[in-house]
Amino acid sequence: MIRSYLESDLTAIDKIGSLIKDDFNKKYDILNLNHDYANIYVYLIDDVITGFIQYEEHYEVCDIINIAVSEEYQNKGIGKALIDYLINHTKCEKIMLEVRENNLKALNLYHKCNFKEINRRKKYYGNEDAIIMEREVAMDVYIMGIESSCDETSISIVKNGHEEIATTVLTQMDTHALYGGVVPEIASRMHTENITMVLEDVLSKTDLTMDDISAIAVTYAPGLLGSLLVGVEFAKVLSLVYDKPLIATHHIAGHIYANNLVKKMEFPLLALVVSGGHTELVLMEDDYKFKVLGTTLDDAVGECFDKVARVLDLPYPGGPNVEKYAKMGKPTYDLPKPMENDELNFSFSGLKSAVINLNHNELQRGNEIRKYDLACSFQTVAIDELIRKTKLAIEKYDIKRVIVAGGVSANGFLREEMEKLCKKMHVDLTIPPLKYCTDNATMIACAAYPQYLNHDFADLSLRAKSQEYFFEEHKS
Ligand code: KG4
Ligand code: ZN
Repeated sequence: MIRSYLESDLTAIDKIGSLIKDDFNKKYDILNLNHDYANIYVYLIDDVITGFIQYEEHYEVCDIINIAVSEEYQNKGIGKALIDYLINHTKCEKIMLEVRENNLKALNLYHKCNFKEINRRKKYYGNEDAIIMEREVAMDVYIMGIESSCDETSISIVKNGHEEIATTVLTQMDTHALYGGVVPEIASRMHTENITMVLEDVLSKTDLTMDDISAIAVTYAPGLLGSLLVGVEFAKVLSLVYDKPLIATHHIAGHIYANNLVKKMEFPLLALVVSGGHTELVLMEDDYKFKVLGTTLDDAVGECFDKVARVLDLPYPGGPNVEKYAKMGKPTYDLPKPMENDELNFSFSGLKSAVINLNHNELQRGNEIRKYDLACSFQTVAIDELIRKTKLAIEKYDIKRVIVAGGVSANGFLREEMEKLCKKMHVDLTIPPLKYCTDNATMIACAAYPQYLNHDFADLSLRAKSQEYFFEEHKS
């Protein structure tokens, strides 16, 4: 924990300060901390002061006067955390400091915090120069996102969590289409073959270099384990070689934060999350603060689209092909409406079984299935249910803003119906453009931005996880 110092902290501060300067005590007496331009932040672990940063704010410039960490707590990122805290809290435009030219440890820390040398005082410390360093407080954050959870290898650079700088998405769809679905073994092998090329390609689209990147974010869950592994290990290597923080981002967070590419999300909002593994109505109260209002009791809606595609013998990828067929049909088959109640939970297995049974019975009778009509009938019932429950949630929770996230948000019928609903109810609606609904690394870099600001960093022990329910971890 970091906070401003209290009078009772001064003895501990003095003790740590004397590690860096013999005359430390005298110095801070002279500085007179009662001035409102001078302050100290302390870093506490279990109520023990382990480090501090002393600074003065004069108009637009904040000067770091002293920074020190007690011996047993060094090399734990405490110095960087204190500087980052100052960066996030000062009202000044610039931060300046002075350091001995031979103090390599401190120089390394300041470089890591993006301070640049602007001047030198020759032989200021006897034989040593004093280096004057500076950084602008409001620096742009460039996050490199990496996504490889299924059959897309993608790397993207996003500025400040919402501005796409460059993205490359290499899809393996054509290869997997030959087998009727994603073959995990082939997917991970292709990620391995392609990921370096994808990195080169994305960098070639911008003037930025790896030096300009603030952090490396990677999808660590959920997805195909072998595929995730390639991205996670690649991200670890980049983080290690280029000395950048590593951020572990959940794939579903990516789909949600893709909405920031359209317009900065304002809270509270209602998110309809619809993918191959998720069907949820979620109240989002702040960044990464979610309250699940309703979830599926059985199958996810995307999973149902995929199953129906298989029943109808449609080629891979399932969901988009069901939509394509539905466009050419009419909802003439009578399918049961899921859960005719006013709860916010979903259930799609009954609808799925009804499609399977109907198909089976018709074939048994020697009747030909009207595939376009069955696709359309299924899609109509499934999307109607998503819309009906979204409407209930809007009414129940007096919602003013709605976002839609996940692969199924690419569905044109859902997009149209959602627009109609939100217009009628005077609710502000955001749905990401189609290219951000399918898997991409842009959304991962967007989702990593609040994590970056929050110092939610991973280390090299990060593991890929094929399954991890996102909302459990981020309950509000
Ligand atoms: O969010 P996503 O990448 O899933 C997971 O990560 O689990 O989305 C993939 C899901 C698949 O089930 C796919 O069939 C579905 O989204 N999907 C669609 C459409 N495009 C993708 N479902 C209906 N209509 C679409 N146009
Ligand atoms: Zn996805």
